[in-house]
Amino acid sequence: MSTVLVVGAGYVGLTTSACLAHLGHEVKCVDIDEEKISQLRQGHVPIHESGLPELVATAISTQHLQFDVESRTAALGTEFVFLCLPTPQAADGRADIGAVLSVIDDVREVLPPGSIIVNKSTVPVGTNATIAAATQRDDLFVVSNPEFLREGNAVNDFLQPDRIVIGSDDLTAGRRVAEIYASIDAPIIHVDPASAETIKYATNSFLATKVSFVNALAAVCEAVGADINAVTTGLGSDSRISPQFLQPGPGWGGSCFPKDMEALVRIAADAGYEFDLLRAVISANEQQFERIVTKAKSLLDGELAGRTIALLGLTFKAHTDDLRNSPAIEVARRLTQSGATLKAYDPTITSTSDIPEEIETSTTIEQALSQVDLAIILTEWPEFASADWRKLSSVMNAPRLVDARNLLNRDAMFELGFRYDDLGRT
Ligand code: UDX
Ligand code: UDX
Repeated sequence: MSTVLVVGAGYVGLTTSACLAHLGHEVKCVDIDEEKISQLRQGHVPIHESGLPELVATAISTQHLQFDVESRTAALGTEFVFLCLPTPQAADGRADIGAVLSVIDDVREVLPPGSIIVNKSTVPVGTNATIAAATQRDDLFVVSNPEFLREGNAVNDFLQPDRIVIGSDDLTAGRRVAEIYASIDAPIIHVDPASAETIKYATNSFLATKVSFVNALAAVCEAVGADINAVTTGLGSDSRISPQFLQPGPGWGGSCFPKDMEALVRIAADAGYEFDLLRAVISANEQQFERIVTKAKSLLDGELAGRTIALLGLTFKAHTDDLRNSPAIEVARRLTQSGATLKAYDPTITSTSDIPEEIETSTTIEQALSQVDLAIILTEWPEFASADWRKLSSVMNAPRLVDARNLLNRDAMFELGFRYDDLGRT
């Protein structure tokens, strides 16, 4: 059992805190957001993350988890400080590590000798060394331990990871961090800090490339008369490729892929390598947003202006309430620019303050579809797949649907009289 301070109570920090407490460690989780901390102290988890509220509630009741706003006092006497802070994309594409350095400034003087700063935030290669220099001490250790937590599946990804990457120049510090995870059954990969930082960018960039590849392949399937579902079944059965991240969609988004792709292009360019392959993937992703708009336009006989369209799903994927860099919002922007009027329904979006004001939100699918000329499924929420589309078709001005997640049964939709289009099938 170790004493751990987790700084940042966002998707990554809160999951890390609750899971480390679940593993038996004494965890303090701090965040500068006083409102968030006050909610957490009462056991209210402000994000939609499966299994997290239960873990937080148990950890609070067993007194393994405490919340605070003051990182300096919380750092007194702690053995480990986990940094789970935002590293947003700066105007030049680089990741901004200002929050990380500001927290180091807060805690560096009070950390006991021998304590270990564990960085989970996604940071430019070389940041481990920058953090070590910023501590202005030679009796602390800094270890890179990137997170691979998918939103919506973060608790599982933490407790049953494919691997745990630990980047340290000091063998003992690396082993002490590995000890924290001793009860988790997963391979531990010990590497140097720069390699650990690169593994994180490489993983997200590779996954985003895979998704863009399949989206491009879907366009080819449409042109040559193949079926993307059949193609990905065959493709993903090759164990060198795997079936995961082969689902066509409206483009990849979220709080990580877009910024991490840009950051890796920037890191490479700064080091003298033009990563044109990744640039092409980023541009293919933008084309994908546009492809969805083109499909909508086509089902509306070439005219978006003056039409009313319902967006089904606003979050960047299902099982989260996160709207950051959501492809749905990108598609929405393009549709409004073309003169369409938008309605939307998403099961997790209740506050309209986070979405463009021109989108009128609804509380049910039926309300969103009422008197619209077209619907577009943008997020793969299961309730869209199980909806009664016969009934729903009767509330629309005309039954037209773009299924940008290939969620529905194509033949069944045609039988119901829909003008229906999805990805990668003719
Ligand atoms: C973040 C990073 O964006 C990502 O690069 C990294 O891989 C993991 O951590 P996430 O947990 O999704 O991801 O971020 P977010 O949900 O925005 O949470 C960050 C939290 O840090 C917020 O609650 C914010 O209030 C808090 N914060 C921010 C601090 O406590 N101190 C600060 O100085 C800045
Ligand atoms: C990602 C990483 O997967 C995770 O390891 C961590 O580093 C944080 O960033 P997350 O942002 O939660 O996780 O989303 P992820 O599940 O990876 O999906 C990213 C985007 O790709 C979403 O917009 C999703 O809809 C899209 N996607 C994913 C597809 O379009 N098709 C797929 O087959 C998989």
